[in-house]
Amino acid sequence: NMRKKIVAGNWKMNMNLQDGIALAKELNETLTNEKPNCGVIICTPFIHLASIAQFLNQDVIGLGAENCADKEKGAYTGEVSAEMVKSTGAQYVILGHSERRGYYAETPEILKEKVLLALKNGLKVIFCIGESLEEREAGKQNEVVKAELEGSVFNLTEEEFKNIIIAYEPIWAIGTGKTATADQAEEIHAYIRSIIAEKYGQAVADDTTILYGGSCKASNAPELFAKPDIDGGLIGGASLKAADFMGIINAWK
Ligand code: G3H
Repeated sequence: NMRKKIVAGNWKMNMNLQDGIALAKELNETLTNEKPNCGVIICTPFIHLASIAQFLNQDVIGLGAENCADKEKGAYTGEVSAEMVKSTGAQYVILGHSERRGYYAETPEILKEKVLLALKNGLKVIFCIGESLEEREAGKQNEVVKAELEGSVFNLTEEEFKNIIIAYEPIWAIGTGKTATADQAEEIHAYIRSIIAEKYGQAVADDTTILYGGSCKASNAPELFAKPDIDGGLIGGASLKAADFMGIINAWK
């Protein structure tokens, strides 16, 4: 298939400004010299974006935020709008991460607003979905990911939906060292693609990049990425060191 393969890093709440700039510079140099066989994106805390955008070769590495506000502008102390993110030079934003849903009570309705504002401001969205351990054990994973898509992105037009990258992240595999097996991941990725096809048609579904996230590292990436419906990864812990991140990028031979 011809759809875009991507390895995206999610730094989460790690890296002070200096360390983050150093990591981005190291990746920038490495990837400018040896062109990767996939798209690469780094999603950083808000404070890094403007500084990193100044030197990042965005033909080789895309830059994104990890969140944005659900309001356009105004008296929302401490919030950062999609327009502000875009104005730093970033092109992407992660929305719907399970840590935002879980720790900051972001509902499907709030995420729907965030997605609309991100798209309106010309950002591409990495939209995260995925079930908890309890939901998986009850066999509800398909139901959960379907509801998450219906709740926040299936309201989009076909044109808008083309700016969405999906990241399937089973919550029980995030930061736990417990990866979904490649077969488990493939099964649900194929299901996700099938419901996108039901909604937007097969051509759109075939063009949608669906990333896997959850304890993905250089050692398990080749097996995951070999699956037909896994188009790359959203990487947390292993995106914090250039060598680890490069190991996953290089899984795309
Ligand atoms: O967004 C990234 C995911 O939450 C995965 O995190 O690679 O540290 O398990 P992890």
